Amino acid sequence: MLNPIAGFGRIGEENAFAVLARATELIGQGKDIINLGIGQPDFRTPDHIVEAAVKALRDGQHGYTPATGIKPLREAVAADIHRRVGVDVSPDQVIIVPGGKITMFAAILMFGEPGADVLYPDPGFPIYRSMIEFTGARPIPIPIREKNGFAFSAAETLSLITPQTRLIILNSPANPTGGVTPKAEVDALVKGLERFPDVAILSDEIYGQMTYDGLPHVSLLTYPEIRDRLIILDGWSKTYAMTGWRLGYSVWPTSLYNNVRKLAVNAWSCVNAPAQYAGLAALTGPQDSVATMVAEFDRRRKIVVEEVNKLPGFSCIMPRGAFYAFPNVAKTGFKAKALASALLENAGVATIGGPDFGVLGEGYLRLSYAASEENIREAVARIGRFLGRNT
Ligand SMILES: Cc1ncc(COP(=O)(O)O)c(C=O)c1O
Repeated sequence: MLNPIAGFGRIGEENAFAVLARATELIGQGKDIINLGIGQPDFRTPDHIVEAAVKALRDGQHGYTPATGIKPLREAVAADIHRRVGVDVSPDQVIIVPGGKITMFAAILMFGEPGADVLYPDPGFPIYRSMIEFTGARPIPIPIREKNGFAFSAAETLSLITPQTRLIILNSPANPTGGVTPKAEVDALVKGLERFPDVAILSDEIYGQMTYDGLPHVSLLTYPEIRDRLIILDGWSKTYAMTGWRLGYSVWPTSLYNNVRKLAVNAWSCVNAPAQYAGLAALTGPQDSVATMVAEFDRRRKIVVEEVNKLPGFSCIMPRGAFYAFPNVAKTGFKAKALASALLENAGVATIGGPDFGVLGEGYLRLSYAASEENIREAVARIGRFLGRNT
């Protein structure tokens, strides 16, 4: 009998991929499915970025690059952070990685082990908990509540810290809720963290450029007092509609950088070279495609919330960031996962049940509004007809 380590018995998944697979299967059977399940922009990568990758291939960029990424790209990341966030980051603290997920993988592997506690948002991106469980550490959920606008609470987060806490994971703007944590709350958290100098912080800022209503994104990088223990997760997937390119970056404290560099050497050697040149073009080229895409998400956000709030049993607060709405569906009488599954099988609409993001996701559905206005309206109409038949 083969004997993989126990961690593989605990590792989880991201159900959005299973829903995507099932939706694709149903489409293959001739069914008409509208996909509000998957978390990726419905835009193409801008042409100048694609061209940069094609050019890199034609110019012969076919080999390994340094494990940490090509220097011009690390410099461009530092310059981009300076432009957007107004802080100085050394390119030698930046590592280019194959997608945003790799940073959580690396950070959680670095701090998780039996006996350690790792705090993570619930509901939150499912891979946090999955990887924490893989390492044998104890996953401690940070409740993310609708009554707080799906922002995290500094006081509640701080109250969960124990002597065993090694890492805290934060995510704003957030998946799956679209919540954005206000600056005052982040200030309070950082102030409280002064009491716990040995706790590392992973701030997942992959939706950092997607906030609405003029609400600023508060990067944890703007707090010098925690910079020596702060890991930033970011990347190109969402901002530049590049999910399939597998390109991300992280910023590490100098004391941890060699660890992540060695992990890269052991695991992925480097990110594919043409994708890195594409990433360089994305950061150094025109940024208008980002603004256009975010403005379009903003418009659809209002449509989805307005339409969904007309559905019986649904109530949806206005998301302030990312491209997800997280309606409360408790009053429909369905369990959230049962509703998501029935909507896919019987109404032709793919959504994700809130419990796929943690136990506190019960009673909610995640709807991605990275879909056309026409599809959003049709999807909500289908949900309405389904509820009319079944409630
Ligand atoms: C909060 C959050 N972090 C990280 C990621 C991972 O991004 P990537 O596709 O670049 O691995 C996602 C993707 O959905 C996400 O929602």
